[in-house]
Amino acid sequence: MSTVVVTGTQWGDEGKGKIVDYLAEQSDIVVRYQGGSNAGHTVSVGGKEFKLRLMPSGILYKGKKCIIGDGVVFDPEVLLSEIENLKKEGIEIADYLISNRAQVVMPYHRLMDGLEEDNRGHAKIGTTKRGIGPCYMDRDRRIGIRMCDLIDDEVFAAKLKTNLETKNRELEILYGQQPLSYEKILKEYRDYADKLRPFIIDTPSYLNKAVRDGKKVLFEGAQATMLDIDYGTYPYVTASHPIAGGVCVGAGIGPKNINTTVGVVKAYCTRVGEGPFPTEQLNEIGNKIRNVGHEFGTVTGRPRRTGWLDACVVKYAGYLGSLDYLAITRLDILDHFDEIKMCVAYKYNGKIIDEMPANLRILGKIEPVYETFAGWNTDTCAIRKYEDLPKEAQIYLKRLSEVTDVKIGFVSVGPNRDQTIVCAHNIF
Ligand code: GDP
Ligand code: IMO
Ligand code: MG
Repeated sequence: MSTVVVTGTQWGDEGKGKIVDYLAEQSDIVVRYQGGSNAGHTVSVGGKEFKLRLMPSGILYKGKKCIIGDGVVFDPEVLLSEIENLKKEGIEIADYLISNRAQVVMPYHRLMDGLEEDNRGHAKIGTTKRGIGPCYMDRDRRIGIRMCDLIDDEVFAAKLKTNLETKNRELEILYGQQPLSYEKILKEYRDYADKLRPFIIDTPSYLNKAVRDGKKVLFEGAQATMLDIDYGTYPYVTASHPIAGGVCVGAGIGPKNINTTVGVVKAYCTRVGEGPFPTEQLNEIGNKIRNVGHEFGTVTGRPRRTGWLDACVVKYAGYLGSLDYLAITRLDILDHFDEIKMCVAYKYNGKIIDEMPANLRILGKIEPVYETFAGWNTDTCAIRKYEDLPKEAQIYLKRLSEVTDVKIGFVSVGPNRDQTIVCAHNIF
Protein backbone atom coordinates (compact mmCIF):
# COMPACT_ATOMS: atom_id res chain seq x y z
CA MET A 1 0.00 0.00 0.00
CA SER A 2 1.46 3.30 -1.04
CA THR A 3 -0.56 6.47 -1.22
CA VAL A 4 0.47 10.11 -1.05
CA VAL A 5 -1.83 13.13 -0.70
CA VAL A 6 -0.73 16.59 -1.88
CA THR A 7 -2.77 19.51 -0.53
CA GLY A 8 -2.57 23.29 -0.51
CA THR A 9 -1.89 24.85 2.90
CA GLN A 10 -2.76 28.49 2.24
CA TRP A 11 -5.33 30.12 -0.12
CA GLY A 12 -4.53 28.19 -3.29
CA ASP A 13 -2.02 28.63 -6.12
CA GLU A 14 0.83 27.35 -3.96
CA GLY A 15 2.27 25.30 -6.83
CA LYS A 16 0.38 22.03 -6.23
CA GLY A 17 0.48 21.32 -9.99
CA LYS A 18 4.27 21.54 -10.03
CA ILE A 19 4.68 19.26 -6.99
CA VAL A 20 2.10 16.73 -8.22
CA ASP A 21 3.77 16.62 -11.64
CA TYR A 22 7.13 16.09 -9.92
CA LEU A 23 5.80 13.22 -7.76
CA ALA A 24 3.74 11.74 -10.61
CA GLU A 25 6.90 10.29 -12.13
CA GLN A 26 7.13 7.86 -9.19
CA SER A 27 3.41 7.02 -9.12
CA ASP A 28 1.05 4.80 -11.13
CA ILE A 29 -2.19 6.71 -10.66
CA VAL A 30 -2.96 10.40 -10.04
CA VAL A 31 -6.40 11.33 -8.66
CA ARG A 32 -8.24 14.64 -8.25
CA TYR A 33 -10.63 14.31 -5.30
CA GLN A 34 -12.49 17.65 -5.01
CA GLY A 35 -13.15 21.01 -6.59
CA GLY A 36 -13.68 21.53 -10.27
CA SER A 37 -12.59 23.89 -13.01
CA ASN A 38 -12.05 26.62 -10.41
CA ALA A 39 -8.59 25.05 -10.11
CA GLY A 40 -5.76 26.28 -12.31
CA HIS A 41 -2.71 24.05 -11.91
CA THR A 42 0.36 24.99 -13.91
CA VAL A 43 2.91 22.42 -14.98
CA SER A 44 6.07 23.50 -16.82
CA VAL A 45 7.74 20.84 -18.91
CA GLY A 46 10.31 21.18 -21.68
CA GLY A 47 9.99 24.96 -21.80
CA LYS A 48 6.20 24.77 -22.21
CA GLU A 49 3.58 25.77 -19.67
CA PHE A 50 0.41 23.67 -19.32
CA LYS A 51 -2.55 24.98 -17.35
CA LEU A 52 -4.76 22.19 -16.05
CA ARG A 53 -8.18 22.73 -14.55
CA LEU A 54 -9.78 19.30 -14.28
CA MET A 55 -7.26 16.86 -15.66
CA PRO A 56 -4.90 15.60 -12.91
CA SER A 57 -1.36 16.97 -13.16
CA GLY A 58 0.06 13.51 -13.92
CA ILE A 59 -1.23 13.68 -17.49
CA LEU A 60 2.07 14.90 -18.92
CA TYR A 61 3.72 11.55 -18.23
CA LYS A 62 2.92 8.66 -20.51
CA GLY A 63 1.34 5.63 -18.92
CA LYS A 64 0.06 7.23 -15.70
CA LYS A 65 -3.60 6.66 -15.06
CA CYS A 66 -5.35 9.97 -14.32
CA ILE A 67 -8.62 9.83 -12.41
CA ILE A 68 -11.28 12.44 -11.75
CA GLY A 69 -12.80 11.30 -8.47
CA ASP A 70 -16.28 11.23 -6.93
CA GLY A 71 -15.84 14.49 -5.03
CA VAL A 72 -15.14 16.56 -8.14
CA VAL A 73 -17.78 18.79 -9.73
CA PHE A 74 -17.17 17.92 -13.33
CA ASP A 75 -17.69 20.30 -16.25
CA PRO A 76 -17.61 18.20 -19.45
CA GLU A 77 -17.04 21.20 -21.68
CA VAL A 78 -13.92 22.21 -19.75
CA LEU A 79 -12.38 18.73 -19.77
CA LEU A 80 -13.02 18.19 -23.47
CA SER A 81 -11.47 21.54 -24.40
CA GLU A 82 -8.55 20.81 -22.07
CA ILE A 83 -7.98 17.51 -23.87
CA GLU A 84 -8.12 19.29 -27.26
CA ASN A 85 -5.55 21.83 -26.11
CA LEU A 86 -3.23 19.13 -24.78
CA LYS A 87 -3.52 17.20 -28.05
CA LYS A 88 -2.56 20.35 -29.97
CA GLU A 89 0.61 20.42 -27.85
CA GLY A 90 1.32 16.84 -28.88
CA ILE A 91 0.31 15.23 -25.57
CA GLU A 92 -1.36 11.85 -26.00
CA ILE A 93 -4.49 11.62 -23.85
CA ALA A 94 -5.64 8.07 -23.34
CA ASP A 95 -5.26 7.06 -19.75
CA TYR A 96 -7.96 8.95 -17.95
CA LEU A 97 -11.07 7.85 -16.10
CA ILE A 98 -13.98 9.74 -14.57
CA SER A 99 -16.04 8.70 -11.56
CA ASN A 100 -19.63 7.69 -12.19
CA ARG A 101 -20.47 9.53 -8.95
CA ALA A 102 -18.92 12.90 -9.89
CA GLN A 103 -21.51 15.68 -10.04
CA VAL A 104 -22.01 17.35 -13.44
CA VAL A 105 -21.69 21.13 -13.73
CA MET A 106 -24.64 22.37 -15.80
CA PRO A 107 -25.04 25.70 -17.67
CA TYR A 108 -27.43 26.95 -14.98
CA HIS A 109 -24.76 26.40 -12.31
CA ARG A 110 -22.31 28.69 -14.10
CA LEU A 111 -25.03 31.26 -14.74
CA MET A 112 -26.28 31.20 -11.13
CA ASP A 113 -22.72 31.53 -9.80
CA GLY A 114 -22.32 34.83 -11.64
CA LEU A 115 -25.79 36.11 -10.78
CA GLU A 116 -25.49 35.22 -7.09
CA GLU A 117 -22.13 36.95 -6.92
CA ASP A 118 -23.48 40.13 -8.53
CA ASN A 119 -26.42 40.00 -6.15
CA ARG A 120 -24.14 39.89 -3.10
CA GLY A 121 -22.75 43.32 -3.94
CA HIS A 122 -20.14 44.33 -1.33
CA ALA A 123 -20.50 40.95 0.40
CA LYS A 124 -19.34 39.08 -2.70
CA ILE A 125 -17.07 36.05 -2.24
CA GLY A 126 -15.07 36.66 -5.41
CA THR A 127 -15.80 33.21 -6.83
CA THR A 128 -14.33 31.99 -10.11
CA LYS A 129 -17.90 31.88 -11.56
CA ARG A 130 -17.36 28.32 -12.80
CA GLY A 131 -20.55 27.05 -11.17
CA ILE A 132 -18.73 25.30 -8.32
CA GLY A 133 -20.87 26.49 -5.38
CA PRO A 134 -24.23 26.03 -7.16
CA CYS A 135 -23.26 22.53 -8.32
CA TYR A 136 -22.27 21.38 -4.81
CA MET A 137 -25.45 23.02 -3.53
CA ASP A 138 -27.56 20.87 -5.85
CA ARG A 139 -25.66 17.80 -4.68
CA ASP A 140 -26.54 18.66 -1.08
CA ARG A 141 -30.18 19.38 -2.00
CA ARG A 142 -30.10 15.89 -3.53
CA ILE A 143 -31.14 17.09 -6.97
CA GLY A 144 -27.68 16.93 -8.60
CA ILE A 145 -26.98 15.13 -11.86
CA ARG A 146 -24.11 12.65 -11.65
CA MET A 147 -21.98 11.16 -14.41
CA CYS A 148 -23.90 7.87 -14.10
CA ASP A 149 -27.08 9.88 -14.84
CA LEU A 150 -25.50 11.75 -17.74
CA ILE A 151 -24.76 8.52 -19.59
CA ASP A 152 -28.24 7.11 -18.98
CA ASP A 153 -30.32 8.91 -21.64
CA GLU A 154 -33.68 8.36 -19.96
CA VAL A 155 -32.58 9.33 -16.46
CA PHE A 156 -30.71 12.37 -17.74
CA ALA A 157 -33.69 13.67 -19.77
CA ALA A 158 -36.01 13.29 -16.76
CA LYS A 159 -33.62 14.91 -14.25
CA LEU A 160 -32.82 17.77 -16.59
CA LYS A 161 -36.53 18.43 -17.16
CA THR A 162 -37.35 18.58 -13.43
CA ASN A 163 -34.28 20.63 -12.55
CA LEU A 164 -34.66 23.07 -15.38
CA GLU A 165 -38.26 23.84 -14.44
CA THR A 166 -37.09 24.99 -11.00
CA LYS A 167 -33.95 26.72 -12.28
CA ASN A 168 -35.83 28.64 -14.96
CA ARG A 169 -38.36 29.83 -12.39
CA GLU A 170 -35.48 31.04 -10.19
CA LEU A 171 -33.75 32.69 -13.14
CA GLU A 172 -36.89 34.51 -14.25
CA ILE A 173 -38.34 35.51 -10.88
CA LEU A 174 -35.18 36.25 -8.89
CA TYR A 175 -32.93 37.57 -11.64
CA GLY A 176 -35.21 38.62 -14.52
CA GLN A 177 -33.33 36.31 -16.91
CA GLN A 178 -34.56 34.51 -20.02
CA PRO A 179 -35.27 30.80 -19.40
CA LEU A 180 -32.70 28.27 -20.64
CA SER A 181 -33.68 25.91 -23.44
CA TYR A 182 -34.26 22.28 -22.42
CA GLU A 183 -33.68 20.96 -25.97
CA LYS A 184 -30.43 22.85 -26.40
CA ILE A 185 -28.95 21.62 -23.11
CA LEU A 186 -30.20 18.08 -23.73
CA LYS A 187 -28.48 17.96 -27.12
CA GLU A 188 -25.24 19.53 -25.85
CA TYR A 189 -24.97 17.18 -22.85
CA ARG A 190 -25.96 14.04 -24.86
CA ASP A 191 -23.04 14.87 -27.10
CA TYR A 192 -20.73 15.09 -24.05
CA ALA A 193 -22.14 11.80 -22.77
CA ASP A 194 -21.33 10.05 -26.05
CA LYS A 195 -17.77 11.35 -25.99
CA LEU A 196 -17.12 10.55 -22.33
CA ARG A 197 -19.05 7.27 -21.87
CA PRO A 198 -15.99 5.01 -22.44
CA PHE A 199 -14.08 6.73 -19.64
CA ILE A 200 -16.69 6.59 -16.88
CA ILE A 201 -16.13 3.90 -14.26
CA ASP A 202 -16.76 3.09 -10.62
CA THR A 203 -13.65 4.78 -9.21
CA PRO A 204 -13.90 3.65 -5.55
CA SER A 205 -13.78 -0.03 -6.51
CA TYR A 206 -11.01 0.67 -9.05
CA LEU A 207 -8.91 2.66 -6.56
CA ASN A 208 -9.35 0.30 -3.63
CA LYS A 209 -8.26 -2.61 -5.80
CA ALA A 210 -5.29 -0.57 -7.02
CA VAL A 211 -4.29 0.19 -3.42
CA ARG A 212 -4.66 -3.51 -2.47
CA ASP A 213 -2.50 -4.45 -5.47
CA GLY A 214 0.28 -2.17 -4.21
CA LYS A 215 -0.06 0.49 -6.91
CA LYS A 216 1.34 3.92 -6.08
CA VAL A 217 -1.50 6.38 -5.91
CA LEU A 218 -1.05 10.14 -5.72
CA PHE A 219 -4.01 12.32 -4.68
CA GLU A 220 -4.01 15.88 -5.98
CA GLY A 221 -5.81 18.52 -3.93
CA ALA A 222 -7.19 21.64 -5.53
CA GLN A 223 -7.71 24.96 -3.68
CA ALA A 224 -6.36 24.82 -0.13
CA THR A 225 -6.93 24.59 3.61
CA MET A 226 -7.99 28.22 4.09
CA LEU A 227 -10.57 27.80 1.31
CA ASP A 228 -12.02 24.60 2.85
CA ILE A 229 -15.80 24.89 3.27
CA ASP A 230 -15.62 24.14 7.03
CA TYR A 231 -12.06 24.98 8.07
CA GLY A 232 -11.33 27.95 5.84
CA THR A 233 -12.25 31.61 6.29
CA TYR A 234 -15.98 30.87 5.95
CA PRO A 235 -17.93 32.21 4.07
CA TYR A 236 -14.99 33.34 1.89
CA VAL A 237 -14.21 29.79 0.87
CA THR A 238 -14.89 27.30 -1.87
CA ALA A 239 -17.62 24.66 -1.57
CA SER A 240 -15.52 21.50 -1.07
CA HIS A 241 -12.97 19.90 1.27
CA PRO A 242 -9.44 20.50 -0.05
CA ILE A 243 -7.84 19.23 3.21
CA ALA A 244 -6.26 15.76 3.17
CA GLY A 245 -9.35 14.27 4.83
CA GLY A 246 -11.24 15.24 1.68
CA VAL A 247 -9.57 12.28 -0.03
CA CYS A 248 -11.67 9.83 1.98
CA VAL A 249 -14.97 11.32 0.87
CA GLY A 250 -13.82 12.50 -2.55
CA ALA A 251 -12.11 9.33 -3.73
CA GLY A 252 -13.67 6.62 -1.60
CA ILE A 253 -10.42 5.69 0.15
CA GLY A 254 -10.58 4.92 3.86
CA PRO A 255 -8.35 6.87 6.31
CA LYS A 256 -6.20 3.81 7.03
CA ASN A 257 -5.20 3.78 3.36
CA ILE A 258 -3.55 7.17 3.43
CA ASN A 259 0.19 6.75 4.00
CA THR A 260 1.83 10.11 3.49
CA THR A 261 0.58 13.68 3.34
CA VAL A 262 2.39 16.62 1.78
CA GLY A 263 1.30 20.25 2.24
CA VAL A 264 2.38 22.70 -0.43
CA VAL A 265 3.44 26.10 0.91
CA LYS A 266 4.24 29.15 -1.15
CA ALA A 267 7.29 30.82 0.44
CA TYR A 268 5.12 33.92 0.95
CA CYS A 269 1.34 34.29 0.80
CA THR A 270 -1.25 35.10 -1.85
CA ARG A 271 -5.02 35.12 -2.01
CA VAL A 272 -7.46 35.69 -4.92
CA GLY A 273 -10.97 36.80 -4.10
CA GLU A 274 -12.38 38.36 -0.96
CA GLY A 275 -11.93 37.47 2.73
CA PRO A 276 -9.46 37.92 5.58
CA PHE A 277 -5.73 37.72 4.95
CA PRO A 278 -3.82 38.63 8.15
CA THR A 279 -0.37 39.09 6.60
CA GLU A 280 -1.54 40.98 3.50
CA GLN A 281 0.82 43.79 2.48
CA LEU A 282 -1.16 46.62 0.90
CA ASN A 283 2.02 48.53 0.26
CA GLU A 284 5.25 48.55 -1.75
CA ILE A 285 6.26 45.15 -0.37
CA GLY A 286 3.00 43.61 -1.57
CA ASN A 287 3.47 45.22 -4.98
CA LYS A 288 7.01 43.94 -5.19
CA ILE A 289 5.94 40.37 -4.35
CA ARG A 290 3.18 40.58 -7.01
CA ASN A 291 5.52 41.95 -9.67
CA VAL A 292 8.53 39.72 -9.00
CA GLY A 293 6.27 36.67 -8.62
CA HIS A 294 3.92 37.57 -11.54
CA GLU A 295 1.05 36.93 -9.16
CA PHE A 296 -2.01 37.03 -11.41
CA GLY A 297 -4.75 34.35 -11.34
CA THR A 298 -4.43 31.33 -13.70
CA VAL A 299 -8.20 30.95 -14.14
CA THR A 300 -9.47 34.53 -13.98
CA GLY A 301 -6.35 36.65 -14.58
CA ARG A 302 -7.16 38.70 -11.46
CA PRO A 303 -4.19 40.28 -9.61
CA ARG A 304 -3.53 38.15 -6.53
CA ARG A 305 -3.42 39.77 -3.10
CA THR A 306 0.05 39.34 -1.62
CA GLY A 307 1.73 39.24 1.78
CA TRP A 308 4.33 37.64 4.04
CA LEU A 309 4.30 33.94 4.87
CA ASP A 310 1.82 33.16 7.64
CA ALA A 311 3.23 30.21 9.58
CA CYS A 312 0.07 30.16 11.77
CA VAL A 313 -1.93 29.25 8.67
CA VAL A 314 0.58 26.55 7.71
CA LYS A 315 0.60 25.18 11.27
CA TYR A 316 -3.22 24.97 11.16
CA ALA A 317 -3.02 23.18 7.79
CA GLY A 318 -0.40 20.91 9.35
CA TYR A 319 -2.64 19.54 12.08
CA LEU A 320 -5.83 19.51 10.02
CA GLY A 321 -4.10 17.44 7.36
CA SER A 322 -1.75 15.50 9.70
CA LEU A 323 0.95 16.61 7.29
CA ASP A 324 4.17 14.61 7.15
CA TYR A 325 6.05 17.03 4.92
CA LEU A 326 5.95 20.57 3.63
CA ALA A 327 6.80 21.29 0.01
CA ILE A 328 7.96 24.91 -0.11
CA THR A 329 7.57 26.50 -3.52
CA ARG A 330 8.68 29.78 -5.10
CA LEU A 331 11.56 30.25 -2.68
CA ASP A 332 13.35 31.86 -5.64
CA ILE A 333 10.87 34.76 -5.63
CA LEU A 334 12.30 35.77 -2.23
CA ASP A 335 15.82 35.91 -3.76
CA HIS A 336 15.20 39.59 -4.38
CA PHE A 337 14.44 40.89 -0.86
CA ASP A 338 16.88 42.43 1.65
CA GLU A 339 14.60 41.55 4.55
CA ILE A 340 11.88 38.90 4.81
CA LYS A 341 9.17 38.54 7.44
CA MET A 342 7.23 35.53 8.69
CA CYS A 343 4.19 35.65 10.95
CA VAL A 344 4.87 33.14 13.75
CA ALA A 345 1.95 33.85 16.09
CA TYR A 346 -1.34 35.76 16.36
CA LYS A 347 -2.14 38.25 19.10
CA TYR A 348 -5.73 39.11 20.00
CA ASN A 349 -6.48 41.77 22.61
CA GLY A 350 -2.75 41.87 23.36
CA LYS A 351 -2.50 38.13 24.12
CA ILE A 352 -1.00 35.34 22.01
CA ILE A 353 -3.74 32.98 20.86
CA ASP A 354 -3.18 29.37 20.00
CA GLU A 355 -6.00 28.74 17.59
CA MET A 356 -7.20 29.85 14.16
CA PRO A 357 -10.14 32.15 14.90
CA ALA A 358 -13.39 30.88 13.36
CA ASN A 359 -15.06 34.24 13.88
CA LEU A 360 -14.02 36.53 11.01
CA ARG A 361 -14.51 39.64 13.11
CA ILE A 362 -11.82 38.30 15.46
CA LEU A 363 -9.60 37.11 12.60
CA GLY A 364 -9.90 40.60 11.10
CA LYS A 365 -8.62 42.10 14.38
CA ILE A 366 -5.75 39.76 15.20
CA GLU A 367 -2.28 41.21 15.12
CA PRO A 368 0.33 39.12 13.30
CA VAL A 369 3.54 38.67 15.31
CA TYR A 370 6.38 38.85 12.82
CA GLU A 371 9.94 37.61 12.95
CA THR A 372 12.35 39.31 10.59
CA PHE A 373 14.90 37.35 8.59
CA ALA A 374 17.88 38.55 6.60
CA GLY A 375 17.37 38.14 2.87
CA TRP A 376 19.90 36.16 0.88
CA ASN A 377 20.01 38.24 -2.33
CA THR A 378 21.37 35.22 -4.19
CA ASP A 379 19.90 33.45 -7.20
CA THR A 380 18.65 30.08 -5.95
CA CYS A 381 17.15 28.81 -9.26
CA ALA A 382 20.05 26.51 -10.07
CA ILE A 383 20.48 25.03 -6.57
CA ARG A 384 19.62 21.32 -6.29
CA LYS A 385 20.83 20.41 -2.79
CA TYR A 386 19.40 21.68 0.48
CA GLU A 387 22.85 22.26 1.97
CA ASP A 388 23.75 24.46 -1.03
CA LEU A 389 20.92 26.90 -0.28
CA PRO A 390 22.15 30.21 1.20
CA LYS A 391 22.46 30.02 4.98
CA GLU A 392 19.79 32.73 5.36
CA ALA A 393 17.31 30.68 3.30
CA GLN A 394 18.01 27.61 5.43
CA ILE A 395 17.33 29.63 8.60
CA TYR A 396 14.00 30.82 7.14
CA LEU A 397 12.92 27.28 6.19
CA LYS A 398 14.07 25.80 9.50
CA ARG A 399 12.00 28.34 11.41
CA LEU A 400 8.90 27.49 9.35
CA SER A 401 9.41 23.82 10.13
CA GLU A 402 9.83 24.61 13.86
CA VAL A 403 6.71 26.78 14.11
CA THR A 404 4.53 24.32 12.17
CA ASP A 405 6.11 21.16 13.58
CA VAL A 406 6.22 19.64 10.08
CA LYS A 407 9.39 18.48 8.31
CA ILE A 408 10.56 20.11 5.08
CA GLY A 409 10.17 17.49 2.34
CA PHE A 410 10.76 19.50 -0.82
CA VAL A 411 11.96 22.96 -1.78
CA SER A 412 11.08 24.29 -5.20
CA VAL A 413 13.26 27.00 -6.73
CA GLY A 414 11.60 27.37 -10.13
CA PRO A 415 8.61 26.12 -12.13
CA ASN A 416 10.44 23.29 -13.94
CA ARG A 417 10.61 19.69 -12.84
CA ASP A 418 14.33 19.72 -12.23
CA GLN A 419 14.16 22.89 -10.09
CA THR A 420 13.26 20.78 -7.08
CA ILE A 421 15.32 20.10 -3.97
CA VAL A 422 14.35 16.80 -2.39
CA CYS A 423 14.76 16.16 1.34
CA ALA A 424 12.07 13.44 1.60
CA HIS A 425 13.45 10.60 -0.52
CA ASN A 426 11.38 7.45 -1.17
CA ILE A 427 8.11 9.15 -0.42
CA PHE A 428 6.10 6.22 -1.86
P1 GDP B 1 -1.52 25.56 -8.03
O1 GDP B 1 -2.91 26.04 -8.32
O2 GDP B 1 -1.28 25.30 -6.58
O3 GDP B 1 -1.14 24.38 -8.88
O4 GDP B 1 -0.55 26.76 -8.43
P2 GDP B 1 -0.64 27.66 -9.78
O5 GDP B 1 -0.21 26.85 -10.92
O6 GDP B 1 -1.95 28.35 -9.86
O7 GDP B 1 0.40 28.79 -9.43
C1 GDP B 1 1.73 28.48 -9.13
C2 GDP B 1 2.64 29.19 -10.16
O8 GDP B 1 3.96 29.11 -9.70
C3 GDP B 1 2.65 28.51 -11.53
O9 GDP B 1 2.86 29.50 -12.51
C4 GDP B 1 3.87 27.58 -11.46
O10 GDP B 1 4.44 27.30 -12.72
C5 GDP B 1 4.79 28.42 -10.63
N1 GDP B 1 5.77 27.71 -9.79
C6 GDP B 1 5.63 26.55 -9.09
N2 GDP B 1 6.73 26.34 -8.32
C7 GDP B 1 7.56 27.38 -8.55
C8 GDP B 1 8.82 27.77 -8.02
O11 GDP B 1 9.41 27.10 -7.16
N3 GDP B 1 9.36 28.93 -8.47
C9 GDP B 1 8.74 29.72 -9.41
N4 GDP B 1 9.33 30.84 -9.79
N5 GDP B 1 7.53 29.39 -9.91
C10 GDP B 1 6.96 28.25 -9.48
P1 IMO C 1 -6.12 26.22 -7.20
O1 IMO C 1 -6.46 24.76 -7.22
C1 IMO C 1 -6.97 30.20 -5.63
C2 IMO C 1 -11.15 31.00 -4.55
C3 IMO C 1 -11.89 32.05 -5.37
C4 IMO C 1 -12.86 32.57 -4.33
C5 IMO C 1 -13.22 31.32 -3.53
C6 IMO C 1 -14.53 30.66 -3.96
O2 IMO C 1 -5.60 26.71 -8.52
O3 IMO C 1 -5.24 26.54 -6.04
P2 IMO C 1 -15.22 29.20 -6.07
O4 IMO C 1 -15.20 29.52 -7.54
O5 IMO C 1 -14.42 28.01 -5.70
O6 IMO C 1 -16.61 29.14 -5.51
O7 IMO C 1 -14.55 30.49 -5.38
O8 IMO C 1 -12.15 30.41 -3.72
N1 IMO C 1 -10.53 29.91 -5.36
C7 IMO C 1 -9.22 29.80 -5.58
N2 IMO C 1 -8.20 30.62 -5.27
N3 IMO C 1 -6.73 29.02 -6.24
C8 IMO C 1 -7.74 28.19 -6.55
O9 IMO C 1 -7.54 26.94 -7.03
C9 IMO C 1 -9.06 28.58 -6.25
N4 IMO C 1 -10.27 28.02 -6.44
C10 IMO C 1 -11.17 28.84 -5.86
O10 IMO C 1 -11.01 33.04 -5.83
O11 IMO C 1 -12.19 33.43 -3.44
MG1 MG D 1 -3.90 27.65 -9.24
